Amino acid sequence: MIIVRNKAELMPILERQRVNGKIIGFVPTMGALHAGHISLIENSLKQSDFTVCSIFVNPTQFNDKADLERYPRMPEKDAAMLEKAGCHMLYMPEVMDIYPETDTRVFDFGHLDKVLEGAHRAGHFNGVGQVVSRLFDIVKPQKAFFGLKDYQQVAIIKKLCEIQNYQIEIIPCPILRETDGLAMSSRNMLLNEEERKAASLIPQLMQEAQARLKNAEPIDSVKKYVFEKLSHNPIYKPDYFEVCDANTLLPLNSLTIKGPSIILIACFVGKIRLIDNLVMN
Ligand code: PAJ
Repeated sequence: MIIVRNKAELMPILERQRVNGKIIGFVPTMGALHAGHISLIENSLKQSDFTVCSIFVNPTQFNDKADLERYPRMPEKDAAMLEKAGCHMLYMPEVMDIYPETDTRVFDFGHLDKVLEGAHRAGHFNGVGQVVSRLFDIVKPQKAFFGLKDYQQVAIIKKLCEIQNYQIEIIPCPILRETDGLAMSSRNMLLNEEERKAASLIPQLMQEAQARLKNAEPIDSVKKYVFEKLSHNPIYKPDYFEVCDANTLLPLNSLTIKGPSIILIACFVGKIRLIDNLVMN
């Protein structure tokens, strides 16, 4: 695996691949890699000729400074995992390589960044848009792979491609979970033993909510049930629990018969904020 730390090194290598007709697959990450990230690499290896992974903890998408500071960083371990997975190139830039000057762009994502994560993390998706657009300009992939763990992020990235006129195929990949159902996340390693145990209630509640909704229980009543369950233990501080149209991400008051619905949750367990979702089948 080739490891590069700046775009000046990376761009000519990728240009040679492109000239030789190779399809470049790209997996952007913030590191502290786990099996969920590696599944994106595996998808890219299957669907492209040359797989590039980036590791960059993007300061512009953190609305909480403490969250940015405590974000786990383990570049050597990450590089070893990528190498083992068969990734072709790892791009690990410094802030100056991505932002030689401050990125002042403000993207208009319409309603997409005003609901759910957008409503609770001011500026977060604009920061994601900035960094992904910079990375796309540098890597110029034909395909880019994103996890459905961050369902709303996938919608934002598709919109970004529309706004910036990128001819990049965005490929959403399924959520990988631990054996107790908890969605894999770099933030899970920040949970202590008690919090880690408690975190499994999040996927459990989504499953229960799905069963209740299928049983024709009204959305409001299901929400009440979920918040009530989370109030039993002060370790939980829920940000939101919503049932939305899976295409528009607009909150539903009743289950639509028109298309797929999705349950989305954001909840602090101790100091760590976790998100998860379940597309209803
Ligand atoms: P990060 O949280 O590191 O995630 C990188 C990619 O891995 C994202 O597409 C995310 O959805 C995916 N992912 C994380 N956990 C997953 C899981 N359990 N199953 C499947 N995929 C999973 O998302 C970001 O970084 C950043 O916002 C980024 C896009 C890199 C921009 O900075």
